[in-house]
Amino acid sequence: ESATMGPVALLVLCLSCLLLLSLWIQSSGRRKLPPGPTPLPIIGNLLQLDVKNISKSLSNLSKVYGPVFTVYFGMKPTVVLHGYEAVKEALIDKGEEFSGRGSFPVAEKANQGFGIIFSNGKRWKEIRRFSLMTLRNLGMGKRNIEDRVQEEACCLVEELRKTNASPCDPTFILGCAPCNVICSIIFQKRFDYKDKVFLNIMERFNENVKILNSPWIQIYNNCPTLLDYFPGSQNKIFKNVDFIKSYVIEKTKEHQASLDIHNPRDFIDYFLIKMEQEKHNPHGEFTIDNLTITVSDFFGAGTETTSTTLRYALLLLLKHPEVSAKVQEEIDRVIGRERSPCMQDRSHMPYTDAMVHEVQRHLNFLPTNLPHAVTCDVNFRNYLIPKGTTIITNLTSVLRDDKEFPNPEKFDPGHFLDEEGNFKKSDYFMAFSAGKRMCAGEGLARMELFLFLTTILQKFTLKAVVDIKDLDVTPVMNGFASVPPPYQLCFIPV
Ligand code: HEM
Ligand SMILES: *[C@@H]1O[C@H](CO)[C@@H](O)[C@H](O)[C@H]1NC(C)=O
Ligand SMILES: *[C@@H]1O[C@H](CO)[C@@H](O)[C@H](O)[C@H]1NC(C)=O
Ligand SMILES: *[C@@H]1O[C@H](CO)[C@@H](O)[C@H](O)[C@H]1NC(C)=O
Ligand SMILES: *[C@@H]1O[C@H](CO)[C@@H](O)[C@H](O)[C@H]1NC(C)=O
Repeated sequence: ESATMGPVALLVLCLSCLLLLSLWIQSSGRRKLPPGPTPLPIIGNLLQLDVKNISKSLSNLSKVYGPVFTVYFGMKPTVVLHGYEAVKEALIDKGEEFSGRGSFPVAEKANQGFGIIFSNGKRWKEIRRFSLMTLRNLGMGKRNIEDRVQEEACCLVEELRKTNASPCDPTFILGCAPCNVICSIIFQKRFDYKDKVFLNIMERFNENVKILNSPWIQIYNNCPTLLDYFPGSQNKIFKNVDFIKSYVIEKTKEHQASLDIHNPRDFIDYFLIKMEQEKHNPHGEFTIDNLTITVSDFFGAGTETTSTTLRYALLLLLKHPEVSAKVQEEIDRVIGRERSPCMQDRSHMPYTDAMVHEVQRHLNFLPTNLPHAVTCDVNFRNYLIPKGTTIITNLTSVLRDDKEFPNPEKFDPGHFLDEEGNFKKSDYFMAFSAGKRMCAGEGLARMELFLFLTTILQKFTLKAVVDIKDLDVTPVMNGFASVPPPYQLCFIPV
């Protein structure tokens, strides 16, 4: 009886060995990582974290372990960086090492590692360099990006006029404008806000953003096999991405037929030219497949972000009529009532520039940024972070720094003005992140925010539907993103 060990005992023995082995592997890897709570095998620190309030849990940990600490979501360590010094040291001083993208299995499955947001290594570098250069070239062309945004600003104002000064929720209209700017950059033309194709594109991207933003995604991302047991959301993402892909392929065929290599009209034209140049390179990154993913990344990154910020800006302007009045005074003085606002005006409008920065600082759209990863073993503050470790940077702790921005919870454009009322730049303004992974659309986003907001305020006075004392402006967390609470307002033509 004792010689032949029962199957149950054998199983217990094996499991214990596995447990010890995994404990040993984890503790040997942990020795040089930044400090943090002791993880359990397999589930890591999940029991020590409140899954519904990850942000609060991590904030608790930073109080115990300091600005640089390690936490295990499952088996894999994640290093969290808290405060300007640590974030800057990583993203800027060690920019190359911290330029990897943290793993995002859901997106990786949908994108197959292509594109720009979720890609890594040589592929990411090439696509990012190409995208930035193309945005720059399009910015200087005959029909440049500024013209396209101005055109959209006019249409936006016309759409707002149709609300006849009656109460409305601005979400839909403010969602259309940034989406159309991306359409104009990618496909050369904008759409009517009622166009079926346009509405379909918006709908599908919004749905994907919603799915990627659900709290469960955090868990999925650390336990990708779970995905295979709950295929619903994943399949929806795939279906949405496939729709965009086939639309881009259709448009690309039209572009190929009418391409003039001396007169590229849009992003697709530039991509086709690059494809032609690279066609003999067997390791080329420029294929139609990759174009479709890059385009879909642009929509994903460039629509919700900008429209949410616009929506929050109007809410804050409603809540703070004294700020709106100063902006409108500046518009009257510098631009007047007739001419369309242009980017040159911004340098003469420090208050408006400060207001836009302050809206972004206050909204804090991506409080924990997108996850990064280290691209090699890195020495950081005498710790050793192994290649591939996920890095979370706490942008809130930078944007709400109370030495750089006294009274950080208050909405005050004065945070970006000096005593003479000149615009004051701040290194702590990391709403677009910083370093090598920094938002690739920063210039475009800032242009849209400035031109859309000044055009709206030039044409309308904003009127609240409720007493502004009762207007709640606290952003609500929605997965990774903070968004304004729903509200209504009236656009009163001036
Ligand atoms: C107010 C608007 C916007 C905000 C607050 C914003 C913010 C951000 C942030 C925080 C990141 C992550 C950076 C990092 O990983 O360190 C990012 C990445 C990115 N953004 Fe934006 N963004 C905005 C608008 C746009 C627009 C209009 C575009 C359109 C081209 C865009 C394109 C991208 C791309 C392609 C990436 C990925 C960059 C990479 O991984 O290399 N963004 N953005
Ligand atoms: C997380 O905790 C903070 C502070 O305890 C609280 O204000 C916030 O509402 C919580 N968030 C969620 C999503 O429960
Ligand atoms: C980030 O920092 C802020 C302010 O210091 C804190 O309230 C928040 O909980 C932190 N979030 C995370 C995820 O560490
Ligand atoms: C954070 O710490 C406080 C006080 O120690 C505790 O009451 C609370 O439950 C913790 N919250 C989370 C989400 O861990
Ligand atoms: C581009 O797509 C091809 C497959 O069509 C793939 O082999 C190649 O690695 C991709 N490159 C990028 C940058 O995605």
